[in-house]
Amino acid sequence: MLLLLSPFFLSSCHPKTLKQSLDLSPILPSNFLFGTASSSYQFEGAYLSEGKGLSNWDVFSHKPGKIIDGSNGDVAVDHYHRYLEDISLMESLGVNSYRFSISWSRILPKGRFGDVNIAGINYYSKLIDALLLRGILPFVTLTHFDSPQEIEDRYGAWLDPKSQEDFGYYADICFKYFGDRVKYWITFNEPNFQASLGYRTGQHPPSRCSGQFGNCSKGDSEKEPFVVAHNIILSHATAVHIYRTKYQKDQGGSIGIVLHAMWFEPVSNSTADKLAVERAQSFLMNWFLDPIIYGKYPEEMKRILGSTLPEFSSNDMEKLKKGLDFIGINHYTSYYIQDCIYSMCGPGRGVTKTEGFCQQSSIGESTELDWQNVYPHGMEKIVNYVKERYNNIPMFITENGYGEISAPNSTTEALLHDVKRVEYMADYLEALLRAVRDGADVRGYFAWSLLDNFEWVFGYTVRFGLHHVDHATLRRTPKLSAIWYKQFIVQHRVVK
Ligand code: NOJ
Repeated sequence: MLLLLSPFFLSSCHPKTLKQSLDLSPILPSNFLFGTASSSYQFEGAYLSEGKGLSNWDVFSHKPGKIIDGSNGDVAVDHYHRYLEDISLMESLGVNSYRFSISWSRILPKGRFGDVNIAGINYYSKLIDALLLRGILPFVTLTHFDSPQEIEDRYGAWLDPKSQEDFGYYADICFKYFGDRVKYWITFNEPNFQASLGYRTGQHPPSRCSGQFGNCSKGDSEKEPFVVAHNIILSHATAVHIYRTKYQKDQGGSIGIVLHAMWFEPVSNSTADKLAVERAQSFLMNWFLDPIIYGKYPEEMKRILGSTLPEFSSNDMEKLKKGLDFIGINHYTSYYIQDCIYSMCGPGRGVTKTEGFCQQSSIGESTELDWQNVYPHGMEKIVNYVKERYNNIPMFITENGYGEISAPNSTTEALLHDVKRVEYMADYLEALLRAVRDGADVRGYFAWSLLDNFEWVFGYTVRFGLHHVDHATLRRTPKLSAIWYKQFIVQHRVVK
């Protein structure tokens, strides 16, 4: 399903760069957050320093053939040691928020089966304090794909309901140590991708595959992605329950979840293709948001999957309802969808027999990355879709950005002159403004990413940064997009 639809796993100024952005100031709330986003495994490095335990990504990336350039995140961009320098870059951009994730195995090297690593607590405390000192609000993700290997080794992590206890235990520690200063919490980043990439196509850890995908070993069942999603949804609910009952009143923060959100349109005007779009959205995003907000899976999923889809008990349903304060949207790309139930899907990739839809082609302009295309209207449309379906719960654009392939012969000069990224951001922000003007309660925008970094299975071959990183020296240099974003923020008067 969404894996083949969204194969990010495969995967002198030009006049246009001076494009003036619209004046957003009368439209955006005065406390609108402008920020950049990152994640622990992609940024920190220091993979076994100061008591950190092994994470699932440490183990996976060290296996031969998993990462296309043979690299790993052992050093990444060394944010662990260079966070002060990186905060200076943020200060120079003028952002008022920074989205980063905590490495679970840095806090709990053995999960709940060992001690808290105080050095890890100190690191994030220092990072949070340094941000606040500069007027930059920490926007913190508890888990961005990485978790302690210990939990995987003991009982297969998310495949086991015990993972709910693991996550609750970890979340509680984070709220306890950091919640006095962190006012925005995200439980999971893109669990919709995590479940599918890890347990359907097998391209992320723990490399399990199911159904028609991958080179499946016997025993991996097609239920696995749905069991994993189920445990993640209930883990989210556990953490939210802990936050609400023990901390929220005193600490006064809010808590949400981040989904990968694509925009889909029917390839034709036929009813069958329109219904296929609804199925595609259910199997991508509503899969998680419906249970967390309404306490049940989307009807399309129940009808198609039957007993393959786990069921929530009445207790679960109660615990789940209204289980977030905001929705985080990671939006990059849009696709045309074709029905595969009532008609044969034509040539195209991502034919998913079970769910009955396939990706026909991307909407808009294609880019060097085969999963990414430029269709700024998609931003406006996905935000309006979420607004309608979920009663305009506050939203944040927790990621949006433009990836470029860094070929061995790419010159630094060309990479610094990232005109396409500037155009992409300007057009996507303009589209976001239209949605806000139409009443969408969007409260922040985070560019992916502050720096070029470790792009999962693509290693260091794909760059998303507003700052170029020389991966040999780790030197950071602002790209044209950093200069543009800074001007954009100045024009729109970020209130600190
Ligand atoms: C979404 C993921 O959250 C992030 O980790 C990744 O680097 C970007 N997309 C770009 O693929």
